[in-house]
This record gives sequence, C-alpha cells and structure tokens, in this order.
Amino acid sequence: MTTATAPLHLTAALSDDSTVLLAERSLLHDLVSALGSPLNIIVPQRIRENLAGFQRVLADRHITGQVYYAHKANRSSALVRELAATNARIDVASLAELQHVLGCGFRPDRIMATGPKTPEMLWLGATVGITINVDGVDELETLARTVSAADLPPVRVLVRFGEFPALGTTVLSKRSRFGCTPADIDPIVAVLDKHRGTLELHGVAFHLDTVGAAEKTRAIEGSLGVLGEFARRGFSPTVIDIGGGFGVNYLAHAQEWENFTTALGAALLGRRDHITWQGAGYGLRNDGGRLRGTLGLYPAYRPVAGPSYLADLLDSPAAATRRPLGTMILESMYDLYIEPGRALLDQCGFALARVLEVRATAGGETLIRLDMNARDVSLEEHGVQLDPVVVAAPGERSGAPRGEYSPGPGSGYLIGNLCLESDLISRRRIDFRVMPTPGDLLAFPNTAGYFMDFSADHALAQPIAAKVAMYRRSDGWAWTLDEQYWPTVSRPAGDIDSRYDDHEER
Ligand SMILES: Cc1ncc(COP(=O)(O)O)c(C=O)c1O
Repeated sequence: MTTATAPLHLTAALSDDSTVLLAERSLLHDLVSALGSPLNIIVPQRIRENLAGFQRVLADRHITGQVYYAHKANRSSALVRELAATNARIDVASLAELQHVLGCGFRPDRIMATGPKTPEMLWLGATVGITINVDGVDELETLARTVSAADLPPVRVLVRFGEFPALGTTVLSKRSRFGCTPADIDPIVAVLDKHRGTLELHGVAFHLDTVGAAEKTRAIEGSLGVLGEFARRGFSPTVIDIGGGFGVNYLAHAQEWENFTTALGAALLGRRDHITWQGAGYGLRNDGGRLRGTLGLYPAYRPVAGPSYLADLLDSPAAATRRPLGTMILESMYDLYIEPGRALLDQCGFALARVLEVRATAGGETLIRLDMNARDVSLEEHGVQLDPVVVAAPGERSGAPRGEYSPGPGSGYLIGNLCLESDLISRRRIDFRVMPTPGDLLAFPNTAGYFMDFSADHALAQPIAAKVAMYRRSDGWAWTLDEQYWPTVSRPAGDIDSRYDDHEER
C-alpha cells in the first residue's frame, strides 16, 4: 500500500449569494447562538431564478407548459410562499403538504397531488378542486366514488405510468412501485368511461427516479403513444407530465470528482490509504483484487443539470422518428408539465452546525464531532458528496493564521450527536484546507433539496433544526424565521431586488 498525501477536495459549487452569506461569520454565529445547532438557512428568492430558468427552456421552444415545484424536497414555508407569489404551480404528496400549500396562498387550480394518497387527501383535493395525478386503477375508482358520494364537480386527472410499451428501443427502465403499466390501459379506460361526468382525463404522467436521459426519452415517447391511444378511445387529454429528476450540479470542479472516484477505487484495492470510514465502498468492493459493484453515489459533478438537462432532453431525438421530442410535443399541441424538486432548490439554502470536538482515535483517525446528526443533513443517505465550508468563530481567525493559533490543513470524519455507531455525517474523510476547531461552524452548502428535513427526526430528543429565511432587501440582507416569511410583506413593493423578479407575478 502506498500512502497518497495529495488532499482530495470536493469543493462545493456556490452561487454568488451563497458565497456572500457564508462570509457573514458574525451573523451566522449569532443565529446559531440564538436558535441552536443545527440550523438551516433558506434563501427563498433564489427559487425564482431557478423557476425562470425552467420557464425559459419552455418559452425558447414555444412549448406551453407549467412548472410544478415538488414540495416534498423541503418543508420550508418561505419557499412555498415565495413561489405562491409567482406563476409556478405545486406538486403535493401528502395531506399535510396539501393543507400547507393552500395556507401559503396556492389556489387549487395551481395544485396537483402525486404519489400515494389517503382517502382524506383525495376528499380535500377533490373538494377544493386540485388536479389529481392518479397512481393506478384502484385510486381512480376511489376518486370517482369520493367525487360522486360528495356530489362534487368533476375532477381533473392525470394518469401516471411507470412502464411504457416498447417503441423499438431496447432501453430498460428500473421497475417502479408507482404508476400503471400498458396492461392497465383497458381497465383505466373502463373506469374513465364509466365516470365521464366525474373524472376528466387531463393527461398522462410519469416520474422516473433516475438521471438517465435514455430512460426519460423512452418514457416521453411512450407517453405520447399512450396519449394517442386515449384519443383513439374518445378522450381529449391535453397534457404530458414528465415529472422531476433534472438534477443539480453540486461541485465546482470536474477534476476533483474524478480524483475522488479514482482514489476511492484505489483505496478499496489497497493501492493507497483509506479515504472512507472503515473502508466503506459506496457500492464498490474489492473482489479478489478486482473492483466490483456499482458506485452508489449521486454524480455530484453534473455539468448538465436543472434547466439545461431539460433543454437537452427536449432537443434529443425520439427513437422512432428521430425528431426532437420537444418538437413532437409542440406539434401535438400538448402542454408540458414538469415537477422539479431538487433542481428548483439549487442554491436555495445551506445547513449549519457547531463543531463540538476534534479528537484522534487510537487508530490515528481524526473525528470531528458536530452538534447535528446524519439525519439533519442527510447527504450520506442520499449519496451526495461535497465538502463543508468552515465558518470560523468570529474574531479568532478567518482561515488565515492569527496570533498564537495557526490552523493548517487537516482531515477527518464528521460524526454526529447520536449515541449510535452509524451516526456519521460523512463516511468520506474530508480534507480541509484549514482544519475546523471547536467553536467554529461547519456549513453544508446547497442542502435545500432533500437534505434539510426529509429525514430529520427527534431521535434521543435532539432538536430538529430551526429554519431561517435570508432575503435581500434594497438595504442589504435581512432575515426572519422561515415561518414568518411572507414575500410581499417581508419585501414590500418597491423593495424588490429586480434580479429575482423578471417574470410575471400572479
Ligand atoms: C412524482 C414525483 N414528482 C417529482 C419528484 C421530484 O423529483 P426531483 O426532486 O428529483 O426533481 C418526485 C421525487 O421523488 C416525485 O416522486
């Protein structure tokens, strides 16, 4: 085994605002002192920029469509209220999310329910008049019964598919627990026929849990085929909904990602020192000197993500006709719905935690203990690797040597505040340019999409992070508790930063 000494950084890609906010050391330390560690910072205005990016892709191709924010990616009220003040729509996946968005100002005609639904959610949705993206024949039946029993007006439905009839391609898609299969078309048509005054077929939907463009291309072609089939059977659907999954680029440098994945393989094969806790392989393993398995990490460096991923998808050719999918959608005169979660939250916030202790183990490793746990910033669970930023305690040092204390580079594993062996915030050894010390904060950039509150709980009666919304006013940055943020009140007319408001308001 050779010991490679070159540090392996995974430097986070940062927006200008994130860079500015992360440099506000005194403010961030004051906030954590007042509100506790961990603490989540939300930058609600940023979601407008991301929305505008997706809307531009549609407008450039003359495609009419709607952007539905997948609420599940973050529980923040500030983000939902910020969007309520735009022309975005919203995708809810639970009764509580539906209640939340209604209370944040979304009118029912801007709301769609996806995912598994309870009878209560179907009732409330049908009663207020949202669109229901149905998951299967049974749900369609239940919805029809709910609408008839309460004598409600007809409900708009999209039918979600998880598999599509093959159209001459050999691309395999992962099996999904959601959505219908081609074999369900006859029963779906039967239910829709039976309940013509109750259910209005609005369109066909899919959401694939993959970043693979080939599978999505096939699913779009498949959806167009299914839409045609519904039309042949006497329905007039107008929408193709291609779900979310446009992705985020988390890293600033391609080379760093390359270096890390190469080093991981080399470490597993014993060709260099370990770079992960107890030799964790993230899906890879050493099988008699050969690297086997599949790297189970999110491709954190993604030059094509978010709106540009959508653009590439729409410009890619259909397998059958070789014509761009966007052109086919345009010519069919369907509206295109998208449901981005993660990508709409790109650079919309970061997580902060206090450094409690830095200590060496008997085995010579360094452990950095934080006042948060792995569920508070679920980067490991979601397979996203990026380096935290040290927010040094104000006054003592600012990354540069100062006085007696001269912190240098170093590395360590991040451990959490649960009394649990597995509570590692990062199983990857983090190489720091300047080692953190107790009293510093670590900031985890770009965590708004899924990593803030998707998994957070009260294990060991530890607190769940408070959320603070930071927003730009004409006189500089201001902050409020997330729950207190109402965009047009917090930022009254005339106090709006024009960078964020370049599109139509509701
Ligand atoms: C139905 C549906 N739509 C949209 C999304 C959002 O996906 P993403 O955050 O990857 O854009 C999800 C995520 O699970 C989903 O299940």
